[in-house]
Amino acid sequence: MNLNSFDHWRTEVLAQVDQGLDQCLPKADQIPTTLHRAMHYAVNSPGKRIRSLITCASGDLFGANIADTLYSAVAIELIHTYSLIHDDLPCMDNDELRRGKPTVHVAFDEATAMLVGDALQPLAFNVLVNQETRLDYETRLKQVGVLSESAGSLGMVGGQAIDLSQIGMNMTRKELELMHSKKTGALFFASAELGALCGKTYAESFEGPLRAYARQIGFGFQVVDDILDASSPTEVLGKSAGKDLRDNKPTYVTLFGLNRAREMASELAKNIKDTLALLPREGGHLSDIAKLVFDRVY
Ligand code: IPE
Ligand code: IPE
Ligand code: MG
Ligand code: MG
Ligand code: MG
Repeated sequence: MNLNSFDHWRTEVLAQVDQGLDQCLPKADQIPTTLHRAMHYAVNSPGKRIRSLITCASGDLFGANIADTLYSAVAIELIHTYSLIHDDLPCMDNDELRRGKPTVHVAFDEATAMLVGDALQPLAFNVLVNQETRLDYETRLKQVGVLSESAGSLGMVGGQAIDLSQIGMNMTRKELELMHSKKTGALFFASAELGALCGKTYAESFEGPLRAYARQIGFGFQVVDDILDASSPTEVLGKSAGKDLRDNKPTYVTLFGLNRAREMASELAKNIKDTLALLPREGGHLSDIAKLVFDRVY
């Protein structure tokens, strides 16, 4: 096998993040066992872990190694996993398949799925506060501030509320962009920012470009998600295909058509290169991750 340096790095990061995720959960046989089993079921299922890669790549850019950024990546994945579990509930998108497996409310039940999300959320903040790294408490506090704001009603949860309130409505491109930036972009922003805060060389001059990168990639990620929902089969996606159209969701594809949505994604992929040029090492692995995001098939 001929692996380049990004592939090596990614394999190393993913192995450590998977291990970190498993270790931060209470044991599955600990009371209440159904809840803990369901938490393991959700967290250990094979997600792409793109946000973890962004956290670790962003840290790497500013002098932090994987051990420094690992807990930040774990915290982000916990919040992301909770958001998916709730997103799939019957009261939201009502989906039965996630990461190639039955969703948590199908494998267990609705109340358990809700509680798993409720439990993963504070666990994420606990991981940040108690992380076994050299980060001082002021930095940990900043991380808690960034993640709580990004996950809340001004960020991801706010985006989800807009998403649900707009079913069957006609949104403008600007409105759609705002919704995508919140429901998906906010956690990408937190991923990049938490990683950078772990590094010693994150200077003010890099804040603008790093945040621009996070905004563009987070927003682009959701545009690609919309395209894949309409163009990729369920077996490849690991989640039910075609559900945005089925549910009358306003997306790039339902509003502008598949071809135009693809053109828009290519424009975003091009623009991100200009932003990467403003970062050290032209963004290092953040550049490889941008390729992954725009070229992905699931
Ligand atoms: C799915 O995110 C939800 C969106 C924000 C579009 P991912 O596609 O990153 O989900 P996993 O973690 O790989 O399952
Ligand atoms: C989910 O967006 C975004 C969050 C979970 C915050 P979608 O509803 O498009 O995600 P999928 O397509 O179900 O993964
Ligand atoms: Mg949704
Ligand atoms: Mg959904
Ligand atoms: Mg989707």
